Amino acid sequence: MQIVTSPREMQKILKLLAAPSVGFVPTMGALHEGHLTLVRQSREQNLVTVVSIFVNPTQFNNAEDLQKYPRTLEQDQKMLQDSGVAYLFLPDANEMYADNFNYSVNEKEKNAVLCGASRPGHFSGVLTVVLKLLQIVQPTRAYFGEKDFQQLQIIRGMVDAFFIPTEIVNVPTQRDEEGLALSSRNQRLSADGIQKAQTFAKILKTSPTLEIAKEQLKENDIAIDYLEDHWNRRFAAVSIENVRLIDNVPL
Ligand code: PAJ
Repeated sequence: MQIVTSPREMQKILKLLAAPSVGFVPTMGALHEGHLTLVRQSREQNLVTVVSIFVNPTQFNNAEDLQKYPRTLEQDQKMLQDSGVAYLFLPDANEMYADNFNYSVNEKEKNAVLCGASRPGHFSGVLTVVLKLLQIVQPTRAYFGEKDFQQLQIIRGMVDAFFIPTEIVNVPTQRDEEGLALSSRNQRLSADGIQKAQTFAKILKTSPTLEIAKEQLKENDIAIDYLEDHWNRRFAAVSIENVRLIDNVPL
């Protein structure tokens, strides 16, 4: 696995390689089995797989959340190496944002609800970094998890709106044996916190109505950021031990 840090260098390498198909998995690191499922699907469908790890500062609307975001680079590298990834792209923020974030991409419809409403500026940061990454890697296919369903929809919309020649592939949410969606943020929870998070996942999946789900979350002392139905799915964001967790299930 080759590690590349410069965006222009990454672009040059992939251009010279001229592989018939390139699969791309953008991440913020602290990798887990959910990320590896995206990597495996990319490996199955493309000759070359590129993974990026970049904790994108512009998508955090809270400085403490950015600072506390888990970073496990050494372990991540080993996992990617063992998964047969060809290139790991590890840019630094100064190079990714040489423009000082003077240029950005915004979405105006889906951004009005859920994480768009509760984390102002979040999706602008996500779209802008994903556009930069897609321009650098120019992949045949890029892989995104349904765990971040709103993100996936908004990225798909951007790719359509700007005629970006990359196919966006959805990957179903990977969960632990208790149904908790795997997430880098789970690493910040205590054993008690994990149990609470598993209860959150169960309530989201099994409660028949929004009202009942709200009551059950309150009974379990789980603070709700939002709990809403959109696009035939139920979405929730909660806070457990000061860690923000999101999940969604089909209705
Ligand atoms: P990150 O949270 O690291 O997630 C990277 C990719 O892995 C996303 O597409 C996410 O949906 C997917 N993923 C995470 N947990 C998953 C799970 N349990 N099952 C399936 N897929 C899962 O999402 C981001 O990073 C960033 O916003 C990014 C797109 C990289 C832009 O900075």
